[in-house]
Amino acid sequence: MGLIQRIIDWIDERAHVRELYKSLMIDYKVPKNLTFPYVFGVFALVTFVIQIVSGMVLLLYYKPSIADAFDSATYTIMGEIPFGWLFRHIHATGANFFMAIIYLHMFTGIYYNAYKKPRELVWIVGWLIYLVLILTALSGYLLPWGQLSYWGFIVTTEIPGSLADAPIFKDFFKAIAETIVLWMKGGYVVTDITLGRVFGSHVLIYPLLLLALVGVHLYLVRAAGISNPDGIEYDKKKHPDKFVPFHPYMTLKEGAYTMWYLAIFFFFVFFHISHFLPPDNFEPANPLKTPAHIAPEWYLLAFYEVFRSIPSKFWGFVAFSALLLFLLILPVLDWSPLKSARRRPLFFVAFLAFMYGSMALTILGSMEPTPLNAKLGMIFGAVVFGFFLSLPIISFIEYGWYKAKGGKEQ
Ligand code: HEM
Repeated sequence: MGLIQRIIDWIDERAHVRELYKSLMIDYKVPKNLTFPYVFGVFALVTFVIQIVSGMVLLLYYKPSIADAFDSATYTIMGEIPFGWLFRHIHATGANFFMAIIYLHMFTGIYYNAYKKPRELVWIVGWLIYLVLILTALSGYLLPWGQLSYWGFIVTTEIPGSLADAPIFKDFFKAIAETIVLWMKGGYVVTDITLGRVFGSHVLIYPLLLLALVGVHLYLVRAAGISNPDGIEYDKKKHPDKFVPFHPYMTLKEGAYTMWYLAIFFFFVFFHISHFLPPDNFEPANPLKTPAHIAPEWYLLAFYEVFRSIPSKFWGFVAFSALLLFLLILPVLDWSPLKSARRRPLFFVAFLAFMYGSMALTILGSMEPTPLNAKLGMIFGAVVFGFFLSLPIISFIEYGWYKAKGGKEQ
């Protein structure tokens, strides 16, 4: 018996790891017709690990004070620490890939209606992850203390201040707006206190929250079972032919996709880092010099465009908060038990409109704020709102068709 075998036996006698492995990997069955987009959850997991590991290295050398932050990121980490640049490149690329993967993962869930019974909790916890992830990205963006970091942070913290423009209960909303902005900035101006808070949140509070939420998310996915691209819930006992053991089928397939993902990831890390560490951010933050055009990072541009294309700041804020809320209550809006865009023609069309609308808003959000862009922003904003608001009606019509064809409750 080899040494490794004996070590495993020794551990197994005490921790029963083989039993655990069997129940988690072999006895756990997944639908055998899962499509490629189902791999985005795994990519998200891989990226999360990459962020934690690379972040831990950066944490050893970064200094969270206004006097030192820029130098520690730009000179110490990038130039003096062996391979410090590599970890910073990985972390910056990871932040962008993480958001991109999460959007793809969410779009997949929406396309296959994976937010419906019995997966509502998976969706709700996923939504919470999305919010914390945005906060994590925003807080991380301030840390290098470059011009973009600083002004991006100022613009973002001022957005909740729009509540002060409320047409009614002015004093009430103004007090709330001031409190939120003050709380986010840690004072009336951005100081060491702000940077300290943002740093603490980015390196400990948000990652811990994420770890806990991702753990619950994965548990819930296992408890409810992964959805099926056909939108039909098969009983694992009655239809064993529709399922395969998680290992080796999924592990090998998703492992192979992950290799491709990492290849693309590291291609950007080594050859196209300027997309993720823009040259403008290698100029130290200067509160007296406002850049000509400040926009949030790409993953928030759609919300930003909705916000700025509405003339009233208050209603702009309400509209973009409503979008976030609509995402959360998708299982309620899309109430019928029918699942998967594959067999829901009206939903399929609405989904396409939603995708194109969100992409158009993202592109417009990166452009100059001209009157034409504001009008286009309103139109595409209406398309995205239209998607959510039409879901109850689409559910009603499609369910009617389904019943008329003699379909039963699922
Ligand atoms: C760190 C972030 C996240 C990680 C690591 C993660 C991981 C995963 C994994 C591994 C799965 C199972 C396989 C799959 O369908 O891909 C899954 C399923 C799912 N996730 Fe996430 N996820 C994350 C964030 C989110 C977010 C932000 C949402 C939505 C707002 C979400 C919604 C869902 C849904 C609805 C499912 C069930 C899919 C199905 O059964 O078809 N997840 N997630």
